[in-house]
Amino acid sequence: MTDFYLANFINPKDDKQADYHPNSVLIVEDGLIKNLVPLSEIDKDENLIKLEDENGLLTIIPPFCDTHFHWVQDPVSDMDKENLLAWLEQYVFPEERKFEDIDYAKAKAKFFFDKLKKSGTFYGAIYASIHDNSVIEAFDCCMGDFLIGNVVMTDNSPDFLKRDLNYYKNLLDEMYQKFGDKYIVTPRFALSCNPEIMSYLGDFSVKNDLYMQTHLSETKNEINITRDYYQSFSQYKDKSYDYMDLYNDCGLVHQKAIFGHCIHLTDHELDLFESSKAKIAHCPTSNAPIEKRGLGSGLLDYTELDKRKIDWALASDIGAGPYISMFDVMKSFIEQHNQEGRDTDSIRALYRASKKGTEILGMTNKGAFEVGYSADFICLPSSQLESAKAILDELLAKPRDVFNNIVVSGYFEGEKVL
Ligand code: GUN
Ligand code: FE
Repeated sequence: MTDFYLANFINPKDDKQADYHPNSVLIVEDGLIKNLVPLSEIDKDENLIKLEDENGLLTIIPPFCDTHFHWVQDPVSDMDKENLLAWLEQYVFPEERKFEDIDYAKAKAKFFFDKLKKSGTFYGAIYASIHDNSVIEAFDCCMGDFLIGNVVMTDNSPDFLKRDLNYYKNLLDEMYQKFGDKYIVTPRFALSCNPEIMSYLGDFSVKNDLYMQTHLSETKNEINITRDYYQSFSQYKDKSYDYMDLYNDCGLVHQKAIFGHCIHLTDHELDLFESSKAKIAHCPTSNAPIEKRGLGSGLLDYTELDKRKIDWALASDIGAGPYISMFDVMKSFIEQHNQEGRDTDSIRALYRASKKGTEILGMTNKGAFEVGYSADFICLPSSQLESAKAILDELLAKPRDVFNNIVVSGYFEGEKVL
């Protein structure tokens, strides 16, 4: 079965380039892209599916990839924020506790993953709660390609969210058996763990060749408290170490490791990223100032990462990030870095919100319109503008609260899903 979709396509290539293919046809066969060609090259007899609205052909881009978010925090994304640790205690932990109840988890998963699909995010890496339900229901309801894992919390956490090593040993075995390499090993952060559980998780991810995700250097206060806590373990008592060394010593720093935030990295930590090929999820809306509805954690300097060829991509970090849409993340990314004098633009933002994310997550045939890639795309309102950058800029000029509902329709593996 071959389908022919006529529209205007934007194909992200890299930080500097997104190819624009106006009035072109995406040829889809068995869920894969066979070609993308100008309309003039198509036989007149072919049955074209015209993707259009009342003003013209729709703009088509690849679906978004969100490399770091907490699906169980959707209900708290609207809450007031003060700083990371206070916000976790006050809002996040009490909400995550509720996912112990299977009916709650089921209802929330249905609602959340419908909203996620409508926002145009079809790929990503997801944090669930400590409970098996929160992963099982997420895999059941998500549409697209996602890595999902249970946050691990053994230390410095409320009793209602604390479990012991044995609990997690059983949980990981069960989840890995069910979901294989789509299960992602997820120590919440070093502060909610200890060297023993972190080493177990490091071994588990390496032995089974699994992805690993965690938080690193989001706020200075978190860094100091974490280092103080690890001083209480004999192996760190008299040692000089950085935050990331705690993960590295436990086998958690490798090329399938994704670290969220990484705002306050030392030179030594940057060296570790360079040598290990570990990845970074950059969360600009979550890190944005409080008045922009973020946690006020600061801004990662991606130019230093680029100099060292460290891989990074964009992420919403829902619920610290207030909006699920990667358009909102792109907009905040551009605004904040422009304020710092960096030449950040919508071409770079799209690349880091789509193709680069899928590359980081090992989804090798997704995130762009290339021959042999999965026929996945999202459709946006038509535009009268005539370059990829102008069209993206026009979209991103809209106010934040419209982005969640801006996607007109969507296709995954050649099937209409939205
Ligand atoms: N660090 C540890 N847990 C979390 C979380 O849930 N959200 C954010 N933004 N940072 C964290
Ligand atoms: Fe996070």
